Amino acid sequence: MPGEIITLQAGQCGNQVGIQYWNQLANEHEILSDGTPLSYSNEDLQFETRENQSQKSNIRSDRPDLFFTLSDDNKYTPRLIMIDLEPSVITKATSALPMLNPRNIHLSENGGGAANNWQHGYLYGLNHQEDLTNLIDRELDKCENLSTFQLFHSVAGGTGSGVGSLLLELLNDRYGSKKIINTFLIFPSNEKTSDVVVQPYNTMLTLKRLIDFSDCTFVFENDSLNSIENSIFGSSNKLSRNSAFEGTNKLISHIATSISNPFRFPSYMYSSNESIISTLVPTPELKFLSTSVAPITNILQKQNTSFTSGIGNANLNEYDIILELLNDKCKMNRVNDPVSYISMMNYLIGNNLNQSEIRKGLIRASSRVNFVPWTSASIHLVNGRPPHISTTNNKKNLHGIQISNNTSIVHVFSKIVKQYDLLAKRAAYINYYTESNDHEERLRVMEMFNECRESVVNVIEEYKSCTSLNYLEDGLLEDEDEDIV
Ligand code: GTP
Repeated sequence: MPGEIITLQAGQCGNQVGIQYWNQLANEHEILSDGTPLSYSNEDLQFETRENQSQKSNIRSDRPDLFFTLSDDNKYTPRLIMIDLEPSVITKATSALPMLNPRNIHLSENGGGAANNWQHGYLYGLNHQEDLTNLIDRELDKCENLSTFQLFHSVAGGTGSGVGSLLLELLNDRYGSKKIINTFLIFPSNEKTSDVVVQPYNTMLTLKRLIDFSDCTFVFENDSLNSIENSIFGSSNKLSRNSAFEGTNKLISHIATSISNPFRFPSYMYSSNESIISTLVPTPELKFLSTSVAPITNILQKQNTSFTSGIGNANLNEYDIILELLNDKCKMNRVNDPVSYISMMNYLIGNNLNQSEIRKGLIRASSRVNFVPWTSASIHLVNGRPPHISTTNNKKNLHGIQISNNTSIVHVFSKIVKQYDLLAKRAAYINYYTESNDHEERLRVMEMFNECRESVVNVIEEYKSCTSLNYLEDGLLEDEDEDIV
């Protein structure tokens, strides 16, 4: 049986992505922005007895209850905790989605943000640990069988990275061995690193916590997301939209909601988050997942009607979509070099899926994918049921996502290590992370930073070595050596 999922959102990025995510989840389950289920929002409802209302919600074939609680007055509320050190995004979220529970919001008293500094965010979290724990425990008490904590955050600012890191420690400490800790991690644009010069430090410190405490992390790179958007709209057109991140956040939230499709719209296979993650993550070290989506125009189309490019043609069939998911242009962390795959799961979501086209597509795709030699080299398939709403003009309402565990992580992490080394070799801006800035404290901080770097380099090495035929045997030999010592 699938269990409930509690979501945490930290910082501007985490909460902005969250607005789109909850908007989409609510739409897919036909829930209005104030939490009213659409099917019961007609005038008849007021004449329904409480028992009838509750019976109606019990006969739903979808499972909004995994992500929402249902109140006595028949309103859905997200199982969500929102945290930020400045109020603007959360204010926007609560006015767009009155269904959000105001008691589940933690805002800093002084409202100044974490100044793009991991240390500020982390210390803030540490000082407010009791309040954060109470919020989490209160949400936990509403669950019958909690499966997963999921966290949306950026790796590079101060709040998402610092408070996010503290949350990961907290979750692991209190509930870690029993519950899945799943994160959606947004990497900054490389082209704009000059915005925040200490981004590589913040990233390194956050990655260390993810490596130590998350069970699985979905990686999104703003550069890849931006180039997908630009390929659809053209870069100049982008400026005319509501927010610089509207399109990127739509892509992230589309993928994040689709991942849970097989247990929100129950199917025979992959009917829990546990089964999906255990299929994709073979060892605790290889847990950084990549995603792609097709057709892209379907997801972004509501923003703008004049498309400049053909990628993501909405009339693709199952076969085309499976192949399109391998297209670099559809990937959320695109790298230039070829990658090797450890695992791959394709979701085809639509009405009346054509299984023969799917089979053909999977055979063709398998011949193009370079799997590492010790895996089963098979592409796992989710036949997803579409939500009630139609997000496309296409009657089949067909779209696909791919989740994969692959070696593109080597490139993503190596880039960060390189940027970090440029700063660290001169101990540049270390004073941002110290209190007294005396020599000893600086040395201590640098040592702590270098430990984080070492952990990230170990992951890079693990992803490099997993392409070897003897990867699993090498692991066994290492374990034996350790036993002998
Ligand atoms: P402080 O501002 O220091 O309090 O931390 P924060 O966690 O709120 O910072 P933020 O979330 O703004 O993180 C900064 C990084 O996230 C930058 O690289 C931004 O480019 C990126 N970012 C900010 N908002 C969004 C968003 O809505 N979507 C995406 N994709 N990226 C975002």
